[in-house]
Amino acid sequence: MSYNPFSLQNKTILITGASSGIGQAAAIECSKGGAKLIITGRNPKRLNETLNLLQGDAHQQITADLSIAEEMDKLVQLVPNLDGLVSCAGTAKYVMLPFIKEQEITDILKINTIAPMLLTQKLVKYKKLNKPSSIVYISSVSGNEVSTIGLSMYGTSKSGLTAFMRHAALDLAPKNIRCNSINLSRVLTPLIEQGTMTNEEQIKEDLKDYPLKRYGKPEEVAYGIIYLLSDASSWITGTSLLIDGGFSLKR
Ligand SMILES: NC(=O)c1ccc[n+]([C@@H]2O[C@H](COP(=O)([O-])OP(=O)(O)OC[C@H]3O[C@@H](n4cnc5c(N)ncnc54)[C@H](OP(=O)(O)O)[C@@H]3O)[C@@H](O)[C@H]2O)c1
Repeated sequence: MSYNPFSLQNKTILITGASSGIGQAAAIECSKGGAKLIITGRNPKRLNETLNLLQGDAHQQITADLSIAEEMDKLVQLVPNLDGLVSCAGTAKYVMLPFIKEQEITDILKINTIAPMLLTQKLVKYKKLNKPSSIVYISSVSGNEVSTIGLSMYGTSKSGLTAFMRHAALDLAPKNIRCNSINLSRVLTPLIEQGTMTNEEQIKEDLKDYPLKRYGKPEEVAYGIIYLLSDASSWITGTSLLIDGGFSLKR
C-alpha cells in the first residue's frame, strides 16, 4: 500500500457548483483521490459532463438550484451520509456602487452566503454529516484580505461566508465537524472568462499585482480542497486557506 496522508478513500463528498470551473475540477481531483462523489449544480447536461470525467463509477449527480428552498430540501433528502461538503456554487457581479439595485444584492447574497449557510444547517439538522466530517467553503480574497472597486456586493457576500465558516466551526466542533474556507484571487474559470476583463492590456496590467505572474488554475484550488477534506488536516478548523498566487501581498 502506498503512503498517502491526503487519501479520500472511503469518503463520500457532496460538491455544489460541480457543473463548472472550480467545482468541476474539485470533483475530478477528489475522484482520483478515491472519494465517492455526489455532484450538484443547476445545469443537468454540464453536470453529466462532470460525471463522465470522474474516476470510478460509484458517483451520483443531483440537479438542484440552491436559491430555491424546495430544491435544496430535495437535495438534502437525497444525499447519503457524508464525510465532506465542498460548498462551491456561487456567482459574481461587478457593479459600481451608485448603480446597484436591491434585487442584485438579494440575488448575490442568496447564492453566495445564504445558500451555504442553509445547506450546512439542513445537513446538520438531518444528521447527514458523519462524525468526523469536513466542510470547505469556497470564498474569496474580496471582502476578506482585499477590497476591489465594483465588487462591493460580491465582497460582502464572501466576507459573510467566511464569517459564517468561523462561527459554524465553533458550533460544530463538538460534533467533530470541521469547517474551513479557501480564499481565492482570480482563477481561470467561466466565471472570470465571461467577466469584464476581456481586453489583453487590462489583463497585463492586472497581472502586475500577481507576484507569481499568472492567474490560478482550477486544479490548484482542488488540491487545497483535498487537503482540507482529508485526514491530513484533522486538527484544522475555523481557518481560511489563502490560495491567491501572492495577490494579497501587494495590497
Ligand atoms: N474563479 C475565480 O476567480 C474565483 C475567485 C474567487 C472565488 N471564486 C468562487 O469560486 C466558486 C466557483 O466559481 P467558478 O469560478 O468555478 O465559477 P463557475 O465556473 O461560474 O461555476 C459556478 C458554479 O456555481 C453553480 N451555481 C451558480 N448559481 C447556482 C444556484 N443558484 N444553484 C446551484 N448552483 C449554482 C453553477 O451551476 P450551473 O452552471 O449548473 O448553473 C456552477 O456549477 C464561486 O463561489 C466563486 O465565487 C471564484
